Amino acid sequence: MDMKKVNSLDFTEFVSVFRNVVERCPLVAAAVWSHRPFSGLEDLENHFFAFIDALPKSGQEGILRCHPDLAGRDVLMGRLSEESRREQSHAGLTSLKTHDRLRLLHLNQEYRKRFGFPFVVAALLSDRATVFQELARRLHCQPESELRTALDEVKKIIHLRLIDLLDSHYFGVE
Ligand code: GUN
Repeated sequence: MDMKKVNSLDFTEFVSVFRNVVERCPLVAAAVWSHRPFSGLEDLENHFFAFIDALPKSGQEGILRCHPDLAGRDVLMGRLSEESRREQSHAGLTSLKTHDRLRLLHLNQEYRKRFGFPFVVAALLSDRATVFQELARRLHCQPESELRTALDEVKKIIHLRLIDLLDSHYFGVE
């Protein structure tokens, strides 16, 4: 889909296409539609980022809490969004051996206990070993900086999901 097509979408169509650019948060796409027309991918993604940046801390934490745990219950129950399933599968997290799944479950629980939201990482840019390393490392970060890190990961996910939805060779209005 090119940017001309994106700019021609009515509200319902736009939300239907971009509803899961922010995991399980279609409200963000609904708000971004108001800013059309978009000059290109960068402009479009900047509106997603600006919406998140403008939220109070409770809203930013809410965005993070909409993400399922990596290799968590939703993976086992087959309840992942298509995007999350693809990203987790890419990082080898949908086919973990029991030992690794239990280790990740434990680390996820520790992380959630410390920060109050799930561990989010751009899984498409990662692999199994790096996910474990990053989770163990970020577990010891300060809450203020960890919120910023987690939101930066959400922005990487947004960028990659938008590229996937748009023609990846197309970055501007003709
Ligand atoms: N990274 C990419 N997708 C996801 C997801 O669905 N959940 C979490 N926690 N991290 C992700």
